[in-house]
Amino acid sequence: MKVVKRSFPKSRLRRTRMKSFSRKMVSENNFTINDVIWPVFVADDGKSKTQIKTMPNVYRYPIEVLLKELEKPMKQGLNAIALFPHISDDKKDGEGSYALSSKNVICKSVKKIKQEYPNIGVICDVALDPYTSHAHDGIISNGNVDNDKSLKKLVEQALLLADSGADILAPSDMMDGRVGRIRQSLEEKEYYDTMIMSYAAKYSSSLYGPFREAVNAGKLIEPKNKKSYQMDIANIDEAMHEVAMDISEGADMIMIKPGLPYLDVISKAKELFSMPTFAYQVSGEYSMIMSAVKNNHLEELDIILETMFCFKRAGADGIFTYFTPQILDALSN
Ligand code: PBG
Repeated sequence: MKVVKRSFPKSRLRRTRMKSFSRKMVSENNFTINDVIWPVFVADDGKSKTQIKTMPNVYRYPIEVLLKELEKPMKQGLNAIALFPHISDDKKDGEGSYALSSKNVICKSVKKIKQEYPNIGVICDVALDPYTSHAHDGIISNGNVDNDKSLKKLVEQALLLADSGADILAPSDMMDGRVGRIRQSLEEKEYYDTMIMSYAAKYSSSLYGPFREAVNAGKLIEPKNKKSYQMDIANIDEAMHEVAMDISEGADMIMIKPGLPYLDVISKAKELFSMPTFAYQVSGEYSMIMSAVKNNHLEELDIILETMFCFKRAGADGIFTYFTPQILDALSN
């Protein structure tokens, strides 16, 4: 692409900025309701929604409450949701066994949501951390998260979620080879149309802190962090390698996570691979913005929409965001 540089006064870039109509004419990116995916926390127990301490205005919903709560966003045009479970400690063990029970809260929720709202896209995380007593995404052996042992469980979890009716499986565990194994098992079991959106480049970020409180997976027992599987924040070549591997293993869509501080990664992945590419504006980003809003340092809707345009400009096809309810209110008016 050749950029023609003309100089003042032949070129006054303010000309097209001067009026609303011409600003609209030259606007390069757009943002619609179809670009947002709502991450929702479902509670395993309880009768009413509970506020998540680390995330202002975000709640955990027992499934019956969620079904009611979805009425309004569905009318406003909500297109897809991503489900995350909150599991009580007594149901957790070292292997995350409850993840493989068809009676668990996610399996039940997918079925009920699909019954009530057949047209919504349902995305389910594939990872064991909400279900394990040590809060890691896989199985621990000899003091470390064991890649190949974890793969077996993750494949079983993926098949169970597909069987429950999940449209898109989103492996967020960062084990090597999981997309390939999941894809192969889906084919063998004739789930030909189940999509895989891999958390392809998922960094070991401090910005997941509020989420871990939300899903009751905050207390990492040895190893005390996820650095042996999530990516080093210093790297971007490695992120492209991860993305390339997941695509070759059979991912239909890729995701980069966290969001706003990682726009360079989104932009490069989109440019190099031309795949459907998603951003996850994670819990810590949400809570930072909300803290500023609560202190009247930022105007809520302005900052939310600005961040959405930034994601689109970087090349994201869609954004996972806890701001979905505010965005639906704003765009459906
Ligand atoms: C689970 C998972 C995490 C998030 C999504 N899936 C947490 C983690 O990896 O520790 C983070 C989402 C957020 O912070 O909003 N593997």
